Amino acid sequence: MTSQVRGAQLARLLGQWHALPGRRRSPDYAALAGAVRGLLADGRLPLGVRLPAERELAEALKISRTTVTAAYRELRESGHLASRRGAGSWTMLPGTHRVASTGLWTPLDDRDMIDLGVAALAAPPELLPAARAAAEDLPRYLGGAGYHPTGIIELREAVARGYTARGLPTSPDQIMVTNGTQHALDLVLRLALAPGGNVLVEAPSYPNALAALAARRARITTHGLAAEEPGWDADLLLGALRQSRPKLAYLIPDFQNPTGHLMPAPLREQVVATAHAVGTDLVVDESFVDLPLDGTVLPPPTASFDRHSRVVTIGGVSKPFWGGLRIGWVRASAPQVQRLAAARVGVDMASPVLDQLVAVHLLADAPTIVAARRIQLTAQRDALLAALARRLPEWRVTVPHGGVTLWAELDGPISSALARAAEEVGVRLAPGPRFGLDGTLERFLRLPFTLPAADLVEAVGRIAAVRYDLDRGGRSQWREPAVIA
Ligand SMILES: Cc1ncc(COP(=O)(O)O)c(C=O)c1O
Repeated sequence: MTSQVRGAQLARLLGQWHALPGRRRSPDYAALAGAVRGLLADGRLPLGVRLPAERELAEALKISRTTVTAAYRELRESGHLASRRGAGSWTMLPGTHRVASTGLWTPLDDRDMIDLGVAALAAPPELLPAARAAAEDLPRYLGGAGYHPTGIIELREAVARGYTARGLPTSPDQIMVTNGTQHALDLVLRLALAPGGNVLVEAPSYPNALAALAARRARITTHGLAAEEPGWDADLLLGALRQSRPKLAYLIPDFQNPTGHLMPAPLREQVVATAHAVGTDLVVDESFVDLPLDGTVLPPPTASFDRHSRVVTIGGVSKPFWGGLRIGWVRASAPQVQRLAAARVGVDMASPVLDQLVAVHLLADAPTIVAARRIQLTAQRDALLAALARRLPEWRVTVPHGGVTLWAELDGPISSALARAAEEVGVRLAPGPRFGLDGTLERFLRLPFTLPAADLVEAVGRIAAVRYDLDRGGRSQWREPAVIA
């Protein structure tokens, strides 16, 4: 089950390892060990993978085997590698580095706090008229019992039309309406994954999806995304699927949360083909698909490459419209939808009819609403980028061309400490480790641009102030428990 990284793959991930900061003062083996530790801390190199044999890595890096032997020894001593004679060496993290990544991440009700922990917009002005129109429609449903386990037909038709318009022919019986995308994921996991099943996810990934997987006691394998475009490493991702043959892979190809990356069409096609070849089901989360920015053209939907019902797509109205509606959906084969609906009866029976009617009206108005969202998000993203460039110029950000989040690479492994300090000055942050497993990603921070520009600029000013205080040694404690329920 353990996956393995080949010499050439690790060499590519290591990149310019010999030219890293501080390099001049340290011998080759220490620099190599440091670079491997960096990849582990950033989640680019998953935990529990087998590293190449010393000779293979030495050849790939064109260095002496003695250097690799010494680097592996140092990694074993620092607790980053476990070796068994004849069997190889596996990556790990020292126990002290582990930070909980689980726990639910929910919005705060503290109105004085600038909440950058949540990546969702306030409701659009069209919401109230849509709710009024939905109330007018309601009498049409009042004569029935009101339970529609797959959703009301009007909404399933509207959602199916949306997929068809994107080049993915879909009939309403392939759609099941859920109470949000998160609920869709939970239902799909209940059906497709036995407790303890093996799942591949991106690192970083969406924290509440990781929480849903933890609830299924999934055994997780990660594919580390690079901060810079395109994020996914095709060779490593396909290799991970082939090696660990997970039961299921959960991917966010459209403006990935938190990195904002967009998976190119050829990789979508390869992922679907490889998943089919190794017997992996793909759960594709399209939460942000409606929010391309800068005129970005979307690749075909991932499911459009699927000929074998391997791909289950989940989506919803939270990102284009409003999270408070709690309307999402699953797109799958008609028989899968029937099985999901049967499973759902033991959970929540059905989604509220009134909210579904509101969603029908919003979807009818989607082009206008989404166009305004894009203009708003572009302006907010640019204000956030400008504030970061001004106040925190050492941080590196890849400009996302869609979605609602920036994934900032910080000037040190300070993300959790910074989040604690920021809370003291009224800014709530979701630190990097929230988006990974086992306490990695401390050099990263997700910054959503869903709040008004003035709030974002104010927040960056406060973050910059506490960032420089961190260097002066002030150490703050969480005011509240670190797990947010
Ligand atoms: C990738 C991803 N999936 C699912 C969700 C949850 O969406 P919903 O509000 O539709 O449950 C979010 C919300 O941030 C998300 O970013």
